[in-house]
Amino acid sequence: MKIALGADHGGYELKEKIKQYLSIRKGIELIDFGTNSTESVDYPKYGHLVAKSIIDKEVDYGILVCGTGIGISIAANKIKGIRAANCTNTTMARLSRQHNDANILALGARIVGDVLALDIVDEFLSASFEGGRHQKRVEEIENCNIF
Ligand code: RB5
Repeated sequence: MKIALGADHGGYELKEKIKQYLSIRKGIELIDFGTNSTESVDYPKYGHLVAKSIIDKEVDYGILVCGTGIGISIAANKIKGIRAANCTNTTMARLSRQHNDANILALGARIVGDVLALDIVDEFLSASFEGGRHQKRVEEIENCNIF
């Protein structure tokens, strides 16, 4: 499984912890799109870089971290085909995969503690999309026909 990582300065340290945590796992390959320090940067770039790597099929999933997980997930969700879920607990992480076929997990480093964040990562990566009734709903996200 290939995973893209991205963060702004607020998420940098947690991104590094996630990178270290996943780097010792067999069968996981990581691509880190930065940022690489706590120096202030703008989060949209990192959301977009990770989103592009998924759309380009360079990776299977993305993990994005900013202070709250909000800005970076909003940025990623602007890219067609991206379903970034900002999760604050393991139930959200599991259901984001099972029901929403989320392809990016977003985390808020100022919202969730490190131990919980790693549990959320585990839950996200081990859950699978259930398809069935959820398939049509996910397709409807992409094919908005109201406007
Ligand atoms: C950066 O200070 C902060 O605004 C950012 O990390 C994130 O929380 C935005 O949604």
